[in-house]
Amino acid sequence: MAEGPALYDLHRFAGRPDDRSQFAADWNAIVTAAGLKDTLLRFVDTLHRLSGVPPQSLGLRRAVLLFGPPGCGKTSLARGLPYAWQRADPQRQAGFLHVNTHALFSGMRGGGQKLILQLFQEIGEQASTGIPLFVLVDEVETLGSNRGGISLETNPLDAMYQVTAFLESLDMSVRDSPDVTFLFTTNIPRAIDRAVRERVDFSLEVPPPGPAEREEIMQAALTALAAAYDVGSVRAAAKNQVRDWRWLIQSSDGMSGRAIRHVFVLAATLAVNSAELTIDHVAEALAAVTATEAGLQHAGGMYLESFQGR
Ligand SMILES: Nc1ncnc2c1ncn2[C@@H]1O[C@H](COP(=O)(O)OP(=O)(O)O)[C@@H](O)[C@H]1O
Ligand SMILES: [Mg+2]
Repeated sequence: MAEGPALYDLHRFAGRPDDRSQFAADWNAIVTAAGLKDTLLRFVDTLHRLSGVPPQSLGLRRAVLLFGPPGCGKTSLARGLPYAWQRADPQRQAGFLHVNTHALFSGMRGGGQKLILQLFQEIGEQASTGIPLFVLVDEVETLGSNRGGISLETNPLDAMYQVTAFLESLDMSVRDSPDVTFLFTTNIPRAIDRAVRERVDFSLEVPPPGPAEREEIMQAALTALAAAYDVGSVRAAAKNQVRDWRWLIQSSDGMSGRAIRHVFVLAATLAVNSAELTIDHVAEALAAVTATEAGLQHAGGMYLESFQGR
């Protein structure tokens, strides 16, 4: 096997689900609109149920795409999905293979295709046990951009062949490994790359959190901070829906889940020398983030995660 970073990480889920695992934490941390997680599980149930159906008869791709702006939970949902699917019925077993996309594109001359073939051979071997195997290719759109990146150092044809090898290997896997479900994520919110779109059965948008979800994320962040700070007054403000609390929810419109959690980290820095973390600390942190984002956007038109909705 070639030297270099591992091509993938592999985990198995069987028996009593481990609700304290990192996968459970990933799944549970994500606050989504009602039904999104159920929809995702239903897609997977459907593909599982259709595993005996010849893919040609329904044009099956055995793949699900999660798309949406960064920081809104795609990777976490994809990582947690095998856990959540197995948890729904502990008789089930599942494998989870997280492809290390960067290792695939390490750019050794002529090596790209080989790495892809090696990866898919190993996926095939892992899947030959008959246990459903989830394969996550995170940020699948980097396949395209990496193609441009490595072409400077290596033969551009090699890079192109590598992408072709990836797409062909996917097609082959669909035919040969009915127990594999591919999970793709992409940050391209609406314009999904055609090569990807044509290779999935289901696409699901994971949008920025709405007001109810933002409030729940803030509550969760407060609970986390309560281990280190007295957050009683903020909790009371939330409970009584005071105007300052409602302002936080309104003003975080368009922010990603990750950015909202980060506001509470900033608030913690503002309160680091006091016993109590107050709603003023949170409001100041949010205002600071808002001002920085607005300034940066004005300055350079940069793409900023915390204000992707505007
Ligand atoms: N909808 C959400 N609800 C709560 N937290 C979120 C949400 N989306 C993102 N986060 C936070 O941001 C972190 C990173 O999210 P991630 O799954 O990597 O997003 P993406 O893959 O869409 O960029 C999560 O671990 C979580 O702490
Ligand atoms: Mg991600």
